[in-house]
Amino acid sequence: MAGYRTLMEYEAAARDSLSEMAYAYYAGGARDEVTLRANRDAWSSIWLHYRTLVDVSQRTSQTTLLGIPVESPIICAPMAFHRLAHDAGEMATARGVSAAGSIFTLSTLSTVSIENVAESTSGPLWFQVYVYKDRAVTVDLVRRAESAGYQALVLTVDAAEIGTRERDHHARFRLPKGMRAANLERAGFDDLGSDAEGSALNTYVRELLDSSLTWADVDWLASLTTLPIIVKGIVRGDDACRAIDHGAQAVVVSNHGGRQLDTAVPTALALPSVVAAVRGRAEVYVDGGLRRGTDLIKALAMGANAVLIGRPILWGLAVSGEGGVHHVLELLRLELLEAMALCGAPTIDDVTLDLVGS
Ligand code: FNR
Ligand code: LAC
Repeated sequence: MAGYRTLMEYEAAARDSLSEMAYAYYAGGARDEVTLRANRDAWSSIWLHYRTLVDVSQRTSQTTLLGIPVESPIICAPMAFHRLAHDAGEMATARGVSAAGSIFTLSTLSTVSIENVAESTSGPLWFQVYVYKDRAVTVDLVRRAESAGYQALVLTVDAAEIGTRERDHHARFRLPKGMRAANLERAGFDDLGSDAEGSALNTYVRELLDSSLTWADVDWLASLTTLPIIVKGIVRGDDACRAIDHGAQAVVVSNHGGRQLDTAVPTALALPSVVAAVRGRAEVYVDGGLRRGTDLIKALAMGANAVLIGRPILWGLAVSGEGGVHHVLELLRLELLEAMALCGAPTIDDVTLDLVGS
């Protein structure tokens, strides 16, 4: 573990330890993977206009997200099926994220249950919601997340169906024997299936998840719970405003890591219009292709309150379990602190819009 110095090194090592099917599922994007690549390129093509001769001898990455104090504004994105990377799955990831002092988001489609994850860590947890056609299933998930102490619900709105990831189609993605969508056992929807054609995930989602969702369903979710609602998967200012009008306390600018609509706008390019439309009425987070501290400082400078990190956390998990997850997040936090020092921004509040430009 100590040998790996960057997130890219973690990916290379993880690739060696994962099955081909798991690596394809984790790494892949939709169709030609144009957005997958563009997410990363877009952060690199923004330039930093750094300040000089600012006292940066005392630096901190600490901040608060929806009232939760964190060591850094670097959150774990919701991702399905962590047991493909490590036997302890989401329990190990949650512990690694907690050790890094940040927030773990559990996917509806996790391979460890809501309750078992909550029991395995004392760190802050959010729960990501996919809405089943059978609404009683989703109501039950929300109740379980509430009673297990999760502190927010993340409603993902960019997955009316699962985008076609051609790598998964060719690999005929399915879960290995013994791995289940652990939260759906009660509902009898825990078996992803093993259809002959293509990716079993696409079939599962098409059959069971509700593709008729509208903004009225954000109200519905808000009426079910007192937990804050975060709407994830937005790339437009008008949608961000709708999310707030329908009860969201935060939005995530996200194209699902390039896994849904290929050629969707890279998130670095979508973020400014969302920040401008939101006008401080809600917290704004962003994800997609953030791999360096300099990417993070740009996102924060452009008005994001936090970033979500996806795949690199799975690389850390695959390479060395909770320690790997912790190390990946710590590498990013240290890179962010270095970028803050060199930009003349000793605190997160000092990371302001004037630092970025073209
Ligand atoms: C995801 N993502 C995702 N999002 C979500 O809301 N629910 C989910 O179950 C999943 N599952 C999932 C699995 C895998 C393997 C990946 C890579 C991603 C999307 C995720 O939350 C996030 O938006 C992106 O991963 C962010 O991009 P990067 O950091 O991976 O580039
Ligand atoms: C994915 C889903 C499960 O991106 O959100 O694979």
